[in-house]
Amino acid sequence: MPKHPGLYEPRSLRPTIADLYDNPPLNETLTISGWIRTRRSTKAVSFAEITDGSTLRSLQVVLPHDKISRERIEAELHTGASLTITGQLVPTPDRPQPFELQAQAYTLLGSADPETYPLQKKAHSLEFLREIAHLRVRTRTYQAVFRIRHGVSLAIHQFFHERGFVYVHTPILTPSDCEGAGQLFQVITTEDPDPTAFFGRPAYLTVSGQLDAEILTMGLGRVYTFGPTFRAEPSHTPRHLAEFWMIEPEMAFFDLEDTMNLAEDLLKSLIRYVLRHYADELAFLTERYDPDLLARLESVKESVFLRLSYAEAIDILQKSGREFAYAPVWGTDLQAEHERYLVETYAQRPVIVYNYPRDIKAFYMRQNDDGKTVAAFDVLFPGIGEVIGGSQREERLDRLEAEMQRRHMNLTAYQAYLDTRRFGTVPHSGFGLGLERFLLFVTGLTNVRDVIPFFRAAGQMA
Ligand code: 4AD
Ligand code: MG
Repeated sequence: MPKHPGLYEPRSLRPTIADLYDNPPLNETLTISGWIRTRRSTKAVSFAEITDGSTLRSLQVVLPHDKISRERIEAELHTGASLTITGQLVPTPDRPQPFELQAQAYTLLGSADPETYPLQKKAHSLEFLREIAHLRVRTRTYQAVFRIRHGVSLAIHQFFHERGFVYVHTPILTPSDCEGAGQLFQVITTEDPDPTAFFGRPAYLTVSGQLDAEILTMGLGRVYTFGPTFRAEPSHTPRHLAEFWMIEPEMAFFDLEDTMNLAEDLLKSLIRYVLRHYADELAFLTERYDPDLLARLESVKESVFLRLSYAEAIDILQKSGREFAYAPVWGTDLQAEHERYLVETYAQRPVIVYNYPRDIKAFYMRQNDDGKTVAAFDVLFPGIGEVIGGSQREERLDRLEAEMQRRHMNLTAYQAYLDTRRFGTVPHSGFGLGLERFLLFVTGLTNVRDVIPFFRAAGQMA
C-alpha cells in the first residue's frame, strides 16, 4: 500500500492492525482497538496479543507494570475482552513479529469473564463452534473463511462485469417452483394463514432465480444473479443448506459448449483470485485443517476439466470393477459415490458430465436429437461433488410446452416465461454455482455450515 500520511491523524480513518502491517508507522504513538486473544504476565510487564478482524495477524502489546498496574491488568485483560490502547510502535528485529506496541495507557471497552466466555482454548472443534455460531466469528478460522467468502463474492462480480454481464436482482418471493422438485418453503402472513390471502395466489421462497434471469436475458443479453435461495430439502448432509447462496449467469446465444467453457473459466479464475489475495488465510487453513489445500488449488487452477457425456460416465463406472452401493445404470442419477469415483479416482481433476437423461433433469433443459437426453451439465469437484448445475435451455415453444404437459405442469402459471419463447426466442444457456459448495473447496473445510455466517439447515437455525 502507498504511504498514506493522513492515516494516523485525527479525523482520518482509524488505523487497523492490517494497516500497521502494510505500512508500519514505526516509533510513532498511535491508538489501536481490538480484542484480546491471549495475555500473560511476567514480573515487570504483561504481554497481550490483540486482534481486530482486519487480518489474521495479531498485534503484540507490551504493558509495562510501572505505567499500568499488574493488578488492574490481571483483573481486566482476559481472553475475549475488548480495549483501546495508546502506545508507541517499536521495531523488534529479534522477535518473531516485526514490531510491538509499547502501551502507555488503555481503556477497557468490554470485559469477558473467563469463567463464562466459551472461547478459552486456542483451537476448538468446528462442531463445538457451530453450537455458538454467534461467537465463532471471533476465531481465526471463521475470520479466514468469511474474509475468503467476501473475496470470492467480489471476484464473481468482477468476472462477470468484465465480460459484459449485468447483475440483476431477481425476487425472493416467487409464485413458482423453478426446479420442479417440490422442495419449497411456502410463505404466509401472521395475520391470515390462508396461503392465498396476501397475493391472491400461493407464494414461496425462491429455489432459483433462473426463470426470471431467462426473462431478463431476452433484453439484456448476458445477466447473472447472486442471492440467497431456499430449499426445504430434509437432507442432513454436510453439503446441504436450507438457505444457500447461488450465482446464476444466463446468456443469450450461448450453446452448451460455450456455457461449459464459461463455467470452467469462472471456477479457475476464482481459484486464482483466492490464491493471489488470501495467502495468509490459505496458509492458516492448510496448516489447521487440510494439508493438501494449497497443492489442490494450485493443481485445479492449471488443470483442464475432463468432459464426459453421461453415457461415457456410466460406462466408466460400470467397467470400474468397483462395488458401489448403488449400481450405475443408464437413466438413474449419479450418486455421490459415483461422482467421487469419476473425479478422485478416474480423472483426478474436476469433471464435467453433460447430456443427462431427460427424465432425471428439469423441464426447461434443451432436448437433444436422440430424444432421450437433454443438454445439461454438472461440474464435479474433488471432495465435494456437484458445485455447478446448468444447461442449454429449451428455446422451442412447441417442445417446451409439450414437455411441461408431459410433466403435468400448470402452463397458465408460466405464461410470462413462455412469452420469451413466443416472441423472438433465441438459443440461450445458464448455470448455477453454489457459493457454499465452492467455498468448501477453497477453504478445505468439509461442512457447508462452516462457510456461511448463520446456517439454516433441516432441524437447525444457528
Ligand atoms: O443444480 P441446481 O439445483 O440448479 C439450479 O438451481 C439451476 N436453476 C441453476 C441454473 O441453471 N441457473 O443447483 C445449482 C447449485 C448446485 O450445483 C449446488 O452447488 C448448489 O446449487 N446447491 C446447494 N448448495 C447448498 N445446499 C443445497 N441444498 C443446495 N442445492 C443446490
Ligand atoms: Mg443440480
